[in-house]
Amino acid sequence: MDAIAVLVHGALGKMGKEVTAAVCRDRELEMVGAVDIKATEEQLLLPDGSKSVPLSRDLESGLKLCKPRVVVDFSIAEAAISAARLALKQGINVVIGTSGLTRDNLDEIDRLAKDNGVGAMVAPNFALGSVVLMHLAKIAARFFDHAEIIELHHHEKADAPSGTALATAQAMVEARGKPFVYPATRKETLSGTRGGQVGGVAIHSVRLLGLMASQEVVFGAPGQTLTLRHDTLSRECYMPGVILAIKEVVRRKGLVYGLDSLLDLKGGP
Ligand SMILES: NC(=O)c1ccc[n+]([C@@H]2O[C@H](COP(=O)([O-])OP(=O)(O)OC[C@H]3O[C@@H](n4cnc5c(N)ncnc54)[C@H](O)[C@@H]3O)[C@@H](O)[C@H]2O)c1
Repeated sequence: MDAIAVLVHGALGKMGKEVTAAVCRDRELEMVGAVDIKATEEQLLLPDGSKSVPLSRDLESGLKLCKPRVVVDFSIAEAAISAARLALKQGINVVIGTSGLTRDNLDEIDRLAKDNGVGAMVAPNFALGSVVLMHLAKIAARFFDHAEIIELHHHEKADAPSGTALATAQAMVEARGKPFVYPATRKETLSGTRGGQVGGVAIHSVRLLGLMASQEVVFGAPGQTLTLRHDTLSRECYMPGVILAIKEVVRRKGLVYGLDSLLDLKGGP
């Protein structure tokens, strides 16, 4: 079977570089092109040194030159939705990891993918461990009335709390069908110390130089606690999820949202 031809959009960014290297390592995939708005050269030497591929500043030229079967996007939200429109209209599958797409963006991507008979995969978190943590948190949520989330990220993270922490809290509340019990603090002497709150789950955000991305969900019951924790130690953690998405998206039509949709997560709520 022919290798799946992949073009990376946002290829000179932190995730783009990691994805490029991961695609090069996989024999079922072939890196055929790269696009990044900050490109200054016309060729990108692949990290394994095997060959150079065309490097463009805009996707339109990149698609013409390289004819990929899948475009993988790790850029910024506005660029990601434009890239999705362009690629899907040309019958090219897309895998998007970029944060910040709106509900309307997702609906449009689904419609365009279906109209053009191709697949689109959008996942806010490609780390397998994080997806499994969310799954386990949904199971535990049925057995505990109290829960708090501590998410820890590098000091440059733009938003707080993390999208994953918000989604985890919402999924936990949904799984148990009612809010958690949120103990009232009679006197908060320092405003914000109890964190934000979603359905009775307090979320605390740590922003610290030296950290990458971690999340801890702590459940409480009389005389016991249960802690689920996931740590991202390097961007490599996202690669198995991204590679799986590339291989699966070519077999799908329409939008697949979330890496959990591609995993066989048994024993769930
Ligand atoms: N889904 C996940 O699991 C996951 C994991 C990590 C990061 N992310 C998200 O991926 C995105 C990228 O993260 P990063 O750390 O690599 O950021 P980065 O800033 O290092 O890289 C982004 C790249 O996109 C390029 N770019 C910007 N606008 C462009 C345009 N119009 N056309 C082409 N290229 C353009 C930039 O030049 C840059 O090289 C962010 O939204 C981040 O939140 C998602």
